[in-house]
Amino acid sequence: MRRSLRFIIPLLLALAVFAYAMLPLVDRLTVRWFVRDLEIRANLIANTVHEPVQDLIGAGNRTRIIQFFTRITEDERVYAVGYCPSPQDPPLATPAMPAAVACAGLDEFSDPAGHVLNTSNGPLFVSVKPLGTENAPDGKLVLVHDMSFVQRRSKETRQYLFYFFIGLGATVSLITVVIAQLTWRGWEQGVRALLRGDVLLRPADTSDLPEFRPIAKDLRSLIRDLEAEHRARNDDQFAWTPEALRSLLRGELRGHEVIVVSNREPYIHVRQGRDIVVQRPASGLVTALEPIMRACSGTWIAHGSGSADREVVDAHNHIGVPLDNPTYQIRRVWLTPEQEAGYYYGFANEGLWPLCHIAHVRPTFRTSDWEQYQKVNQLFARSVVDEARSADPIVLVQDYHFALLPRMIREALPAATIVTFWHIPWPNPEAFAICPWREELLDGLLGSSILGFHTQFHCNNFVDTVDRTLEARVDRETFVVSYRGAPTKVKRYPISIEWPVPERLVDKPLEQCRQAVRQRHQLPASHAIGVGIDRLDYTKGVEERLRAVQRLLEIQPQWVGKFTFIQIAAPTRASIEEYQHYEARVRALVARINGRYAKAIHPPIILVATHHEPDQVYEYYRASELCFVSSLHDGMNLVAKEFVASRDDERGVLILSQFTGAARELPEAVIVNPYDTDQCATALHMALEMPAGEQRARMRLMRGLIQEFNVYRWAGRMLIDAAAMRNRRRLFQRDAERGRTRRSTDR
Ligand code: G6P
Repeated sequence: MRRSLRFIIPLLLALAVFAYAMLPLVDRLTVRWFVRDLEIRANLIANTVHEPVQDLIGAGNRTRIIQFFTRITEDERVYAVGYCPSPQDPPLATPAMPAAVACAGLDEFSDPAGHVLNTSNGPLFVSVKPLGTENAPDGKLVLVHDMSFVQRRSKETRQYLFYFFIGLGATVSLITVVIAQLTWRGWEQGVRALLRGDVLLRPADTSDLPEFRPIAKDLRSLIRDLEAEHRARNDDQFAWTPEALRSLLRGELRGHEVIVVSNREPYIHVRQGRDIVVQRPASGLVTALEPIMRACSGTWIAHGSGSADREVVDAHNHIGVPLDNPTYQIRRVWLTPEQEAGYYYGFANEGLWPLCHIAHVRPTFRTSDWEQYQKVNQLFARSVVDEARSADPIVLVQDYHFALLPRMIREALPAATIVTFWHIPWPNPEAFAICPWREELLDGLLGSSILGFHTQFHCNNFVDTVDRTLEARVDRETFVVSYRGAPTKVKRYPISIEWPVPERLVDKPLEQCRQAVRQRHQLPASHAIGVGIDRLDYTKGVEERLRAVQRLLEIQPQWVGKFTFIQIAAPTRASIEEYQHYEARVRALVARINGRYAKAIHPPIILVATHHEPDQVYEYYRASELCFVSSLHDGMNLVAKEFVASRDDERGVLILSQFTGAARELPEAVIVNPYDTDQCATALHMALEMPAGEQRARMRLMRGLIQEFNVYRWAGRMLIDAAAMRNRRRLFQRDAERGRTRRSTDR
């Protein structure tokens, strides 16, 4: 109200000054209008009386002339009428004719606009009109009008104007009070913001104006949409390359350091006799992140799991990689056998892994494993703090091994931007509810600034789980979860692979790859080959795949001896019983199927259960007629994308499980339900028979998609979002500080 008065009082004063200046002007205007009116009347009277007066003067009857003039003055506004035959004669006039009007001085009144005479009876208007007769050719008629009515009218007009201005002032004041109440703060902020050169809309400031909340919300969402659209447009025109990612880091993220944390390391040093060899692990996570780190530099913190890992690091447990041309460094974290057993084998891989995958293996949750999981997350949190050179690094936390880590980092480095990516599926709330430490896990993850999943379905499951489990605010429109006073953006970022594919992986000509693989397995040059490349994990559907091969041979026996399925199976998590059983089951199944076709010249299935380096894997991709990915449940599955990327000849068929994230991006693959053995067998037959033209058409579309949605875009989009969140948080913090300062000065 005080602020409104500050506005109203000057406004009323201005109105009063204006009215005061207006009144004389109004007076002058009114007089001018009435004078013009009187002049018209005078002309009218002069014209009307012209002839009778001429006659009466010609007759020379003065009395009758005066009587005639007196009748004219019965009109209330005609004060006196007279006639001057010549300037020398006395006037023939009604008694009220003022003495100042003499025939000798009529020139004084002969202005066509008339003349105003101020007398003791009030103002009079004198107009003189020529009225010549035979005897008196210069005769003049003098009409004197009473102007007191003009004064009366002026007074009334002034009164009306006075009331009008009072009314106007009151209305304007009222409107001002209302509008000022509504907008004062907005205006003030707006003007200040403009003066500062900042943006106008600041959610932190408008939030305390309830009347603006709906509009602000709409505006914010509009701005968000515009931003997203703008970025999406840029994204589309953008070829995501390592250089593009680097320039993003140099530009939007202005040289902030990037720290990656994952359990699995990208290079493992293994002792083999007297030698140390370097292995690249079979891990989709590593496949995706390694090119990102090569582009971004920074530090990758991971468990040093290789038998020779300790021998090659420096005093700070660092090693520069890639070894031939180091561009980033690995910081190795050492775990005791107990820690590894409890955290990695136990809680992560016997608990969370089966919990998140629908693969019909029951999760096992042990308190001792949970304790190790907490300790190891704590250990990695300390390593992050150790490695951080600034208070606000960008930390990319990877996967289910580190659900508690984001919160721990947030507590140690509150200004850090923490982007967590969950590489495996997120189950529905009912499935997740069986975990005894579900609240702690969610709390840990909600320490992230951004939490990414491969698919929207997994984002939805996560948000539903939070909704059911925690007292958190979930905004379903923006997919932002606010918990313990901080927001976490939950978003889909489908992971991908390097594009273009590194030269060393595809430089061997296709024909050579075909020959090499066939010779290695004693198969003839014309033999048809299908390939499966997996870790020997029960989620991969290897048993289902092999059963489909057997079914193919049953329903299409022409393939017996002509088609072999080569299963490359990397050993994995071998200390876990479930994995040991799985391997045993797979081996037994292979033996059973091959036994059944023992008479065939070439076995239907070849199982190679050893680790293969990426160049060897690519040789198999390039040598095969088809690749079969039959996961029972998979976050994305990069084998599918690698197979497509490897086929620069645009040949080969991908058979892909509908339960992989990849199936949503690659609909041109032959999509199957791995549990439907007959359908999978038919798909195998269809793939083997598929005409070259159709193979090419499908491959082209899939290659186009992977080229565009490569792993640089995956990382780039997360980093762009992280940068935007970071900037927004800085703005809000600045605003909040200003708000605090303003409130304290207001007081
Ligand atoms: C999945 C997980 C990764 C893991 C990989 C290999 O892809 O999401 O985090 O690295 O499997 O498993 P391993 O246990 O050998 O690291």
